[in-house]
Amino acid sequence: MTQTTQPIQQAAAIVARAHRLTALVGAGLSASSGIPTYRGPGGLWTRQRPRQGAPPLLSYQEFVRDPAAWWQARLAAETDPSHPIYQMKQAVDQAAPNPGHLALAQLEQRGILHCIITQNVDNLHAAAGSRAVLEIHGNRNRLRCLQCHRRTPRNTQTPQNPPQCQQCNGLLKLDTVMFGEPIPPDVLQACRQAAEQSDCMLLVGTSGTVNPAARLPLLAKENGATLIEINPEATPLTPWCDLSLTGPADAILPQLLNSI
Ligand code: OAD
Repeated sequence: MTQTTQPIQQAAAIVARAHRLTALVGAGLSASSGIPTYRGPGGLWTRQRPRQGAPPLLSYQEFVRDPAAWWQARLAAETDPSHPIYQMKQAVDQAAPNPGHLALAQLEQRGILHCIITQNVDNLHAAAGSRAVLEIHGNRNRLRCLQCHRRTPRNTQTPQNPPQCQQCNGLLKLDTVMFGEPIPPDVLQACRQAAEQSDCMLLVGTSGTVNPAARLPLLAKENGATLIEINPEATPLTPWCDLSLTGPADAILPQLLNSI
């Protein structure tokens, strides 16, 4: 590889050689699908997060203190056009996968991408056709039982408040991980294993500021992986990356796919 080779071609050559390619994905991938990111200009937390603590209805402690009151307030917020939860729900309900999601699905279908570790809860990887997806922060379309950990589609929510697991009568919460909530151990373990076994990891549209997800590329690197970042901005993970593809993921990922 010569010094003059373009970064996309360099990345394509690395990806083509990889035996165990993974991708760690963040909100930036879904930005061009119309879903706001969390940080940076216009980000959800930039606009709405109080100086201290979690935004209303997003704290795990608040949920466990009174699950019935939480569910009642959540369902009300989802139908109140002035509430940020309603506005986010509208954005995600209307979103469709963009060319970046579709390129990742193609990489999997071509046998190149082993799995996606996504911090996004928007279900757009599945909508794009990706199958091997670890959702480290959960999925907005699912409920999770806090007792038996079974996940079920949200539309199976029971009429009781708080909703109960039909298998074990445990308490159901949204699968989405809340502020102050530990990552479910089964998912965290699978993410760590995927990172450790990677020989190349794409870091797509993440600010790399939220642990434990942000530590996964470092775990991969410790185990010998090459890191390739795809982001219009530098992040705290940039110094650890072997290559940075600077730009929006919905443009760069299709270029990468077409260069392999
Ligand atoms: P952030 O909002 O922290 O970061 C978004 C990143 O996407 C930034 O680095 C942007 O530069 C980049 N970006 C913006 N537009 C992009 C584009 N078109 N293509 C590629 N990159 C772009 O989002 P996350 O890193 O995903 O947790 O945030 C991590 C977690 O923080 C989220 O999963 C969420 C939040 O608290 C939970 O909800 C549990």
